[in-house]
Amino acid sequence: MYNEINKLNHTMKILAIETSCDDTSIAIVDCKNDINNIETKLLASVVSSQTKLHARSGGIIPNLAAREHEKNLLPVFKQALKIAKIKDFNKEIDLITVTRGPGLQPALLMGLNFAKALAYTTKKPIIGTNHLLGHIFSNFIQHEGVFKNNIKLPVVCLLVSGGHTQLYKISNWDNIKMVGETLDDASGECFDKIAKMLNLGYPGGVYISKTAEKFRSKNPGYKSEFKLPKPLMYSKDFNFSFSGLKTSVLYLIQRLKKSKKFNKKVVEKLCTEAEDVITDVLVSKTIKLAKSIDAKTIMISGGVSANQRLRDKFEKTINNEFDFICPAKSMSTDNAAMIAVAGYYEHFRRKNDDCLTLEINSNLQI
Ligand code: KG4
Ligand code: ZN
Repeated sequence: MYNEINKLNHTMKILAIETSCDDTSIAIVDCKNDINNIETKLLASVVSSQTKLHARSGGIIPNLAAREHEKNLLPVFKQALKIAKIKDFNKEIDLITVTRGPGLQPALLMGLNFAKALAYTTKKPIIGTNHLLGHIFSNFIQHEGVFKNNIKLPVVCLLVSGGHTQLYKISNWDNIKMVGETLDDASGECFDKIAKMLNLGYPGGVYISKTAEKFRSKNPGYKSEFKLPKPLMYSKDFNFSFSGLKTSVLYLIQRLKKSKKFNKKVVEKLCTEAEDVITDVLVSKTIKLAKSIDAKTIMISGGVSANQRLRDKFEKTINNEFDFICPAKSMSTDNAAMIAVAGYYEHFRRKNDDCLTLEINSNLQI
């Protein structure tokens, strides 16, 4: 461990910057204690979303995202300081942290340059943070009040986002190991691509889940009509695969269109069935890993973890066998508060970075 963390009994006020994809976010979080007992208090979390802009093209255009980050960073920064009631940046902020990867290169660069300029002019320490670690630590953030880590170990954490679908084994908080991941598309990507095929909005997961929820409430007990595949559901390892499912849906849509059977009702059924097969596979593999390592807790994170069907299935399937933890829905999707906690974690595991040489790494792994 890099720092003598047990000696740290004061609170660190951390300013975090996140621009890895299409959300410009800055947060200020109080963090204290060592890696195994991190305690957090959220002081401000501002997220400026570019969803409407990218909805027009049905996906994120990296250079457009970067231009928006450039526009949004300063107003978001000022708003975060105001919400957290920071009067004197130099006196009150202890550490600046910024997402250095993984993510879209032009988008990451905007946040990194902003953070470096801030660290240089204020002479504050800076540390680059892993976005994936941020998602894992989103479970340590609550909207209001103090979060004390009394999560029981070992933990299995499912990380499901637009670019990643991974399973982690956490034996202790200093030992986070990936044990499975998608071999092709991420689950969020699968939601987004299916939504695009069905001419729904962006981000696709949100539209698919809204459509499916409405359909289920009007058709209780609906039995699957299209029998979509559940890829790698019964494989022995802990990997995932979602590109075959996407292709099955594509061929099905083509067949239905050809036979003039493609209509609004079919779209609703496909959303319901796609959401069900994706969430079935995610829940099944996560619980299988939890059983195999005698885990005490299952945690979920990343944009897809905002999905209510996924949360409900976990609650139901776990049936008190494990503790189940999920972040506030606003903390599931990208935000800087989770980056603040990950930055605090990184601060104790290694030397701070130098603001003159810190670089992005768009393929960074844990
Ligand atoms: O973590 P995130 O905000 O950004 C990345 O790091 O990728 O995740 C974005 C992904 C998108 O694919 C989006 O469709 C998905 O999360 N998502 C959802 C829901 N909300 C966001 N997927 C399913 N159901 C949702 N409610
Ligand atoms: Zn993310």
